[in-house]
Amino acid sequence: MINLKPRVFVTRKLPDEGLALLKEKCHVEINPYDRILTKEEVIEGLKDKDGLLCLLTDKIDSEVICSNPGLKAIATYAAGYNNIDIKTASERHIPVTNTPDVLTESTADLTWSLILSVPRRIVEGDKLCREKKFKGWGPMFMLGSDIYGKTLGIIGMGRIGLAVAARAQGFNMKILYHSRKRMIEEEKKLNMTFVSIEKLLRESDFITLHVPLNSETKHLIGSKEFCIMKRTSYLINTSRGEVVDEEALVEALKNGEIMGAGLDVYEKEPAITEELTGFENVILLPHIGSATVETRTRMAVMAVENLLTALDGNIPANIVNKEIFTKI
Ligand code: DGY
Repeated sequence: MINLKPRVFVTRKLPDEGLALLKEKCHVEINPYDRILTKEEVIEGLKDKDGLLCLLTDKIDSEVICSNPGLKAIATYAAGYNNIDIKTASERHIPVTNTPDVLTESTADLTWSLILSVPRRIVEGDKLCREKKFKGWGPMFMLGSDIYGKTLGIIGMGRIGLAVAARAQGFNMKILYHSRKRMIEEEKKLNMTFVSIEKLLRESDFITLHVPLNSETKHLIGSKEFCIMKRTSYLINTSRGEVVDEEALVEALKNGEIMGAGLDVYEKEPAITEELTGFENVILLPHIGSATVETRTRMAVMAVENLLTALDGNIPANIVNKEIFTKI
């Protein structure tokens, strides 16, 4: 009897709930190593497979996609899909899916942990205590900046931007935002004001980035923008590293053009511009915006459901190149 189960390649071990679901319906091959695969290894693993379940750390370019003429679906285990050549996938009529929504709250939580930790010097204080340098309370010791009542500038008002704005309500913040489209209803509900990027940069005490990475948002924040920002302001980035010109950020920090930064993502990830590690007013995190057990489990189940639906020839809930289904 012919076995008709689809064959799927998974580029890294995922939470069991997702893999179990996938294994019920497919022949599954998983990257056996606990590391990011090279492009050659992805191409090798993808041989003769019907589906690919990949991560944001895999560059799924046209060479990878075209290496397997039988590839029928790509599901990424992330909300962002800038690592995938969508144009080539669409030309080959390959549906591509992502995992939006399920990571919104944990990413907003992490953004807020940076908004709170950078101005209150949390990491610096912890280090000082561990190094036994705490010699007692002092009126001028370890002063930071207030958060309550300040102005929060949100660039990119998608799901995560909105979740960050919702959390700001408890801090009585003035919220300025800039986005591709205005959110009239949400503006009223969350008391936010739509402004130009320039006004947002000029007036905000905290600027947090929540845009997808594309040709318009690459280096959205560079030397020109740092010049406009208040010298007392903080930059927070939990979106994609390339949205910020990291070299310009180093210069801005050196010159005191901004007060500090909180970063979860890097321009040449996983490499981090060496000079950034020397600033005490910068907190560096290893891309952990969605890294909670609950969120990563939801992401795994969602990515698998998307892949199974696409392999069945149906339109998955989280399709990013929907147009391929209307062009038949
Ligand atoms: C995403 O899904 O794009 C996040 O960066 C994952 O943490």
